[in-house]
Amino acid sequence: MKILVTGGLGFIGSHTVVELQNQGFGVVIIDDLSNSSLEVLEGIEAITGKVPSFEKLDLREKAKVQDFFNRHRDITGVIHFAASKAVGESVQNPLLYYENNLNALVYLLQELDKKDRASIIFSSSCTVYGQAEKMPITEDAPIQRAMSPYGNTKQIGEEIIIDTAKVTNINAILLRYFNPVGSHPSAEIGELPLGVPQNLVPFITQTAIGLRNELSVYGSDYPTTDGTAVRDYIHVVDLAKAHVIALQRLLDQKNQQKVEVFNLGTGTGSSVLEVIHAFEKVSNQKLPYKLVARREGDITQAYANTDKANAILGWKATFTLEQAMESAWKWEQKVRNN
Ligand code: WQD
Repeated sequence: MKILVTGGLGFIGSHTVVELQNQGFGVVIIDDLSNSSLEVLEGIEAITGKVPSFEKLDLREKAKVQDFFNRHRDITGVIHFAASKAVGESVQNPLLYYENNLNALVYLLQELDKKDRASIIFSSSCTVYGQAEKMPITEDAPIQRAMSPYGNTKQIGEEIIIDTAKVTNINAILLRYFNPVGSHPSAEIGELPLGVPQNLVPFITQTAIGLRNELSVYGSDYPTTDGTAVRDYIHVVDLAKAHVIALQRLLDQKNQQKVEVFNLGTGTGSSVLEVIHAFEKVSNQKLPYKLVARREGDITQAYANTDKANAILGWKATFTLEQAMESAWKWEQKVRNN
């Protein structure tokens, strides 16, 4: 049986393909290469010894999606990563986000609806909670009006899947990621942000390697231990492993509902300054940074209650923040030295 991984050359997608192939799954990747490169296939092969099948395809092209499934009739399991994911860009270009993140999902589901039974793992985000009242955040925390079109596409995507699963043979697991960071310990694959990184950790590593002059810490007046914002930084390999476990659960028909939801985090919150200090410790160098004003749309804190994923998926994050920083730094050094 082959598993379709959309966005499989991306940051989380490529790490998940590695874990799928390590578990013996056959994998077909669809990627439009808008935010990734074909070289990632070499990294996946270097780690697993196998090259996954790959097709360049824009999931917004309905006829192309239909043609793909006609040629791959045995695919009944999909892990859907393909989406635009830059919060700031989504504010400037909402229609790109609604088209790319939602039309593609609808065309995928229409093809899965033709199967006797189908399984989809959906890449969602803790952003659906907005600023949650209670920490750590559980899956039944209220969904709040998204702060960006990007976040809104995750909320609407979840609703599309829930409504569709009710009346089809599609079974789904929604995985709400907290903050994915780090790279595969082999440094064969990692995060490759195009342009100026919006996310904290790639900006840290690019500053440390000399690509950026200094890191701006957005906000030092938050009501947190050191005034900087708190997030739950989960190693991308831990995240990838959770996807394989979730998919196997659906393939084994072990799911208790048509749609199940899990928060994927470490369960521990770390402030921006704590991340910087962890990085300085593992890289053995001082990171130049300055404290500046808060970033528009940021929340104060978010970290996961992972009891449900621990108990039901039997999954728990294993990498520490320092290990995540170490792997991110090793990857940055490798990419810049090539
Ligand atoms: C983390 C913390 C910033 C950059 C977003 C999306 C989420 C997911 C991950 C896609 C915040 C601070 C950052 C910098 C800084 N995206 N920061 N200086 O905003 O928590 O989550 O990215 O799946 O859905 O919402 O992540 O890494 O941008 O920021 O001080 O140069 O680091 O203010 O407190 P965020 P982030």
